[in-house]
Amino acid sequence: MAFFIWNDDLSVKVRSIDNQHMKLIEMINDFYENIKNRSNDESIKKLITEMRKYAQSHFALEERYMKQHSYPDYEAHKKQHDLFMSKVVELEEKFQNGKLLLTFEITSYLKDWIKQHIQVVDKKYSQFFIDKGIV
Ligand SMILES: [Fe+2]
Repeated sequence: MAFFIWNDDLSVKVRSIDNQHMKLIEMINDFYENIKNRSNDESIKKLITEMRKYAQSHFALEERYMKQHSYPDYEAHKKQHDLFMSKVVELEEKFQNGKLLLTFEITSYLKDWIKQHIQVVDKKYSQFFIDKGIV
């Protein structure tokens, strides 16, 4: 059974965003599996970097939609993204410098953050984006 399972409760009803959320979840699962199977550091480093890049481009898409349509909660939402990104960058740097031991606590942190962010923060823009015709 996968570590992080997508379900309809995570849908923001905007297909382009749901697809990216699914991809992020898949990457977190991959990361979890690699830690569980004690993969070599190089593979894990690659996964963390891919995850960081993907999260960055995903957040950029959401922020672009918000800006284009003058979403009222843009600033607060962006702040959440920035906070998460600085955590991920820190994780990436520490691991690359051999200063971090990967644990399931870290995978759980990523999973819980993404889950909570989608369900609480992203869902707030759902109806707004639908009304703007974003698909
Ligand atoms: Fe978001």
